[in-house]
Amino acid sequence: MQNRAIITAVGGYVPETKLTNFDLEKMVDTNDEWIRSRTGIQERRILREPGKASSDMAVKAVEELMVKRNLSPLDIDCLICATVTPDMVFPATANIICDKLGAKNAWGYDLSAACSGFLFALSTAAMFIESGRYKKVVVVGVDKMSAIIDYTDRATCIIFGDGAGAVLLESSDDATVGIKDSILRSDGSGRDYLHMKAGGSLKPATLETVMNKEHFAFQDGQPVFKFAVKGMADVSAELLERNGLTGEDIQWLVPHQANLRIIDATANRMGLPKEKVMINIQKYGNTTAATIPLCLWDWEKQLKKGDNLVFAAFGGGFTWGATLVTWAYDGEK
Ligand code: COA
Repeated sequence: MQNRAIITAVGGYVPETKLTNFDLEKMVDTNDEWIRSRTGIQERRILREPGKASSDMAVKAVEELMVKRNLSPLDIDCLICATVTPDMVFPATANIICDKLGAKNAWGYDLSAACSGFLFALSTAAMFIESGRYKKVVVVGVDKMSAIIDYTDRATCIIFGDGAGAVLLESSDDATVGIKDSILRSDGSGRDYLHMKAGGSLKPATLETVMNKEHFAFQDGQPVFKFAVKGMADVSAELLERNGLTGEDIQWLVPHQANLRIIDATANRMGLPKEKVMINIQKYGNTTAATIPLCLWDWEKQLKKGDNLVFAAFGGGFTWGATLVTWAYDGEK
């Protein structure tokens, strides 16, 4: 009997506070027209409440999973949290999430792969299920990007937002559905273009690093853009080819939401029309590890058992990848 890892529920959470392009016009030298035409973003959500962190958004997303599957947090065996904005450098945010949930039987850890974090975590979690070792594994993608964004830097502050998305993985003996294949890649030489300069062991925090704004995300947008277009499109096309599929066999592309132009390039390369592409970048911006599960959250009601989905991501590191999933249930549970 085969243990196929299937997604059995999707949860999500975005904070209520909206930061629109018009708000940003008052903060930096930018304008709504430029942001919309260059990125596709109109607004993003920001977690404003003091004392609230990535774990708080993640807990809300995981609680939704528990309600949808009528489960208790005590049923969770393992929780993997993909994030680049952990509550603290240590302990892992996964531990904090499990504590806040009351998931006393779960172990967990954080996975750092920036915008590809959810895909990397999903692939890892699928192997825990396929091996038969665990029955219920939660994968969370969460980022409170507003905690590491310099709202005087127009190159980054227009792009990012806050949010959390989560999926529950369980096993099935039906080999026609579930997580079927992944191509995952990383190239550390890309660190020059997208990183946080200080706060790690290379350059611990000092008064000077704070004054120099080195605890914010740094991005050299153009090289990232070029690498992202090629990286995401290449792996997505390769994934189709090695599974003997064409765009016609795919019902949905679920792309990382970094820039509408990168999404369009990937869809074109796969031969997919716009109607088959999940896009919510206009309302959430780039929520880093949360974009793919937040798309699933927004589209869950429309998904049908047997739909073929390609998840595609690209992120800091560089990291990138694509995953082929055949959806295992109809609509919202
Ligand atoms: N508002 C108005 N003008 C802006 C601006 C802003 N927020 N940011 C940059 N500009 C200006 C630049 O100064 C430049 O002006 P110039 O021609 O007079 O020098 C012009 O717009 C073009 O800048 P450029 O950086 O070439 O823009 P771009 O088309 O590359 O778009 C990004 C910038 C950041 C949107 C784009 O590079 C991008 O999306 N990169 C990848 C992002 C990504 O995927 N990141 C995460 C990986 S997960």
